[in-house]
Amino acid sequence: MSPKGRVSLRGIRKEFGRFVALDDIDLDIEPVEFFALLGPSGSGKTTTLRLVAGLDTPDEGTLTVDGVDVTFAPPGERDVAMVFQNYALYPHMTVRDNIAFPLKMAKAPASSIDELVREAAAKVRIDHLLHRRPGQLSGGQQQRCALARAIVRKPKLFLLDEPLSNLDAQLRLETRVELKKLQRNLNVTAIYVTHDQEEAMTLADRMAIFLEGTIKQIGTPAEVFDHPNCVEVAAFIGSPPMNIIPAALNGRTLTIEGHSVALHRDPGHPPGPVIVGIRPGSLRIDPEGIPTQLYLQENMGETWLLNLKLGEMIVKMRVAHSERSAEGETVPISFAPGAIHLFDAETGLRVQVN
Ligand SMILES: Nc1ncnc2c1ncn2[C@@H]1O[C@H](COP(=O)(O)OP(=O)(O)O)[C@@H](O)[C@H]1O
Ligand SMILES: [Mg+2]
Repeated sequence: MSPKGRVSLRGIRKEFGRFVALDDIDLDIEPVEFFALLGPSGSGKTTTLRLVAGLDTPDEGTLTVDGVDVTFAPPGERDVAMVFQNYALYPHMTVRDNIAFPLKMAKAPASSIDELVREAAAKVRIDHLLHRRPGQLSGGQQQRCALARAIVRKPKLFLLDEPLSNLDAQLRLETRVELKKLQRNLNVTAIYVTHDQEEAMTLADRMAIFLEGTIKQIGTPAEVFDHPNCVEVAAFIGSPPMNIIPAALNGRTLTIEGHSVALHRDPGHPPGPVIVGIRPGSLRIDPEGIPTQLYLQENMGETWLLNLKLGEMIVKMRVAHSERSAEGETVPISFAPGAIHLFDAETGLRVQVN
């Protein structure tokens, strides 16, 4: 059987009036991959998804699914199903009729509809609610109904736009796990839009980081987390994200706020200003380290976050527990030279240090 659900975007540009919403987007999504489009609000994620769905067309570029150019194909010819943030259920129809709707539109034989609806509803565990209307369902049940409606036709592409964001925190975590299981069982390509990096990290096989209408990085969650390829991605991923600290580099000597630190090896970068990225968990207290002043400590439950004043900056450090109380107290810090990320001060691009 030939692979199904490979999506390729080439040089995609989308403008709204004079506003450039997407600029030169290149993306290859593999069959049955769970692929996340992650980025802050307004970065172009929904616009990209709508182009894949056929709800909108690009101003430039091409979009292919399994090698077929569908850039201007109507949604009905694309074999896609989409789940929206607000579920978009038909309020006057029962759950059964909502789920059956795409089958009826596709003129599926009436005799098969009941069985397919029941099967889809069972997969998301709402088969006991088929007679109800959306208004008689909880938020979580409505969301399941929207999912059932999307999977009932067994589409080639499963497109989800922030499908969990209307659920409360507890339900969101539970549904996240089920969604991943569902996608694995269905064996279908999923493109998942979210601004929530934890969702993207936990759900996605790979993801694209969107910022201001461009893609900054594409990779597995581990690649993006461990090797952000630019300072913008570094400053976005992680909770809290890494500390971004201006420094000066000369050979293998890094100078931060007047304190010198020796790197393992010379990164071979021209001497001058650089940007250091360091995760809160990679800092440690070290009597020989760079002195900082405790500004505020936050109890995060399992860990503590120390907010430390380094010059004019606040640096965040994660510790297992803290008995400090005196704000203003000196806290000397250091980091393993292998734990830092370096970025070119001008381009913001990653400089390989390790
Ligand atoms: N139909 C539209 N008309 C004008 N501007 C739009 C339209 N759709 C989206 N935009 C703008 O394009 C940008 C990207 O939007 P969107 O793709 O919805 O972002 P995201 O989903 O990442 O939050 C935003 O600045 C948004 O205001
Ligand atoms: Mg959006």
